[in-house]
Amino acid sequence: MVLSRRAAVAMTLAASSAFAAEAPTVALITGANRGIGFEFAKQHAERGYRVIATARDPSKATDLQALAKAHKLVSIEKLDVTDLVAIDALAAKLKGTPIDLLVNNAGIGGGGNNQNFGTINYAVFDDVMKTNVQGPLKMTEAFMPHVMASRLKKVVLVTSSQGSIASVNRPSLYFYRASKSAVNMALRNVALAVKDKGVMICMVAPGATDTDFMAEVRGRMPLGNPADRTKAMIGLIDKCTMELTAVPIEWDGTTIPW
Ligand SMILES: NC(=O)c1ccc[n+]([C@@H]2O[C@H](COP(=O)([O-])OP(=O)(O)OC[C@H]3O[C@@H](n4cnc5c(N)ncnc54)[C@H](OP(=O)(O)O)[C@@H]3O)[C@@H](O)[C@H]2O)c1
Repeated sequence: MVLSRRAAVAMTLAASSAFAAEAPTVALITGANRGIGFEFAKQHAERGYRVIATARDPSKATDLQALAKAHKLVSIEKLDVTDLVAIDALAAKLKGTPIDLLVNNAGIGGGGNNQNFGTINYAVFDDVMKTNVQGPLKMTEAFMPHVMASRLKKVVLVTSSQGSIASVNRPSLYFYRASKSAVNMALRNVALAVKDKGVMICMVAPGATDTDFMAEVRGRMPLGNPADRTKAMIGLIDKCTMELTAVPIEWDGTTIPW
């Protein structure tokens, strides 16, 4: 059968738009091997997203490996968010891949005992700032072309009410709190820079959640279930619009004051 040129073009267009309609939404998640990051990976995989799950040591990420086995759209990439060269390398490797949701989740607390005034551990302070502030900013910078090329155009920051300067009423967690205030400010700047490109920065906070992160205080305060808290944050991200760009929101929907 010989097709006219017009018919051939029409068929090609139909095929490419059918392909576009079927292309899965893509989420790239940092620190996806455990805790809240793993829940983000799992719940997005269950929604049919293509998930690019990053971990510092994929060989030890057994839960992620099992997830990738169960969901063919889950892939695992090695990434330490303090390694700026590695971030650029992953962005280059994924060049041309639209990323709908860039989830800046990886974070560390630094340990309560390292941040008591009088005996502050400044080496740990550096690690916390590199991981919690530089990491998300560099990720957002390196992957902005991928986000801009996507349909949803959402950068997610997993922040914390501990970063709320207005809410602090007793001294604690000096540099963890400072890191979350700082990353909120850094990504608020990004929000202003990319607003006219249609990119949103969705800031969500899980509240006190029962992950390894809270091992020091487990049993001493109520902790939320990681699956439930992540589900709640995903609901907020779904509803995130340009009006809510760079507005930190707690998992239960309340706005966190700056
Ligand atoms: N849990 C809470 O109560 C709570 C409350 C408010 C906010 N948050 C925020 O929620 C986010 C996730 O915390 P979580 O509770 O899930 O903590 P978690 O269970 O301790 O998990 C932290 C994740 O971050 C990864 N990570 C740490 N440093 C990294 C680095 N340099 N590069 C790449 N990945 C790194 C860890 O990887 P490894 O396995 O390699 O260490 C792990 O996958 C953090 O940003 C945290 O600040 C948590």
